[in-house]
Amino acid sequence: MIRYRIADSMEDMGYRAADMAAEQIADKPDGVLGLATGSTPLPLYEELTRRSDAGEVDFSGVRTVNLDEYVGLPGDHPQSYRYFMQVHLFDHIPIDPANTALPDGMAEDLADECRAYDALIEAWGGIDLQVLGIGHNGHIGFNEPGSVFTLKTHVVDIARRTRIANARFFRGDPERVPGQAVTMGIGNIMAARKIVLLVSGRSKAEILERALCGDVNPLVPASVLQLHPDVTVIADQQAAACIEIPEAAMI
Ligand code: GLP
Repeated sequence: MIRYRIADSMEDMGYRAADMAAEQIADKPDGVLGLATGSTPLPLYEELTRRSDAGEVDFSGVRTVNLDEYVGLPGDHPQSYRYFMQVHLFDHIPIDPANTALPDGMAEDLADECRAYDALIEAWGGIDLQVLGIGHNGHIGFNEPGSVFTLKTHVVDIARRTRIANARFFRGDPERVPGQAVTMGIGNIMAARKIVLLVSGRSKAEILERALCGDVNPLVPASVLQLHPDVTVIADQQAAACIEIPEAAMI
C-alpha cells in the first residue's frame, strides 16, 4: 500500500523528505540515494544542507545517483542537471565528488554510457532510497508516456509537453530545451528499495490521481509505482486534492 503524508507547505515537504533521507543515511551511512531535479525537491536539498551544516546528517560516506541528464549539455552548463545538483546540494555538503553520479549527456557513445550507469548502480549495491518528482504527463525521471516498464538506463526523446514545461529554464523557448535525455529506466527506479514521491501544486492533482488510483498503464509512467512495495508520497493539499486517501494510508 502506498503511504501518504500531506505537507502543510513546501518547507514542510522538504522537512519530511529530509527526515526520510536522514533516517536512511543513519541506517546505512554508505547507502545510495537516488536523487531528482526539478523545482519540487529543492526544499529537500535546502533542508539537507541545513542538517549537514548543523552536524545532524553525515554525507561523508553517502553515494548518490541521479535519475537523468540532458543529452548535449556539459556539466558546467547552467541548465544541466549536474550543474543543478552542484548548486543546490553537492557544493554545500561534504560529499566526495566521486560518490555523486549522474549520466554523462556528453558521452560520445551514449549506449555505452547507459550500460556503464547501470553497472555503477549495481556495483554500488542498488538504490536504497529514490527521490522522485512527477511530470504533468505522469513522467518519472524522463520516462515519458509509453515507456516500457522493464527498461534500465536509456536515451529518450523528451516529450513535447515536457519541453514546453521545461522551457522556463531555457529563456521560455521549448526549442532550446534539448530534445533528448539519458534517463534511468523504470526498471532501475522500481529496483530501489524505497521510493519517496514529492508532489506539489494544483496542476499535478489530476495526474497524481490517475497515477496512483487509476490503472497501471505505461501511458502514465508513474502508475507503475502502485506495484512497488515501499512508496511514500509526500504531497501538499493542492496536489492531493483529487485523491481520497484512506485513513490507514496516512502517516
Ligand atoms: C523534469 C525531470 C523530472 C521531474 C519533473 C517535474 O522534467 N526530468 O525528474 O520530476 O520534470 O519537475 P518539477 O518538480 O519542476 O515539476
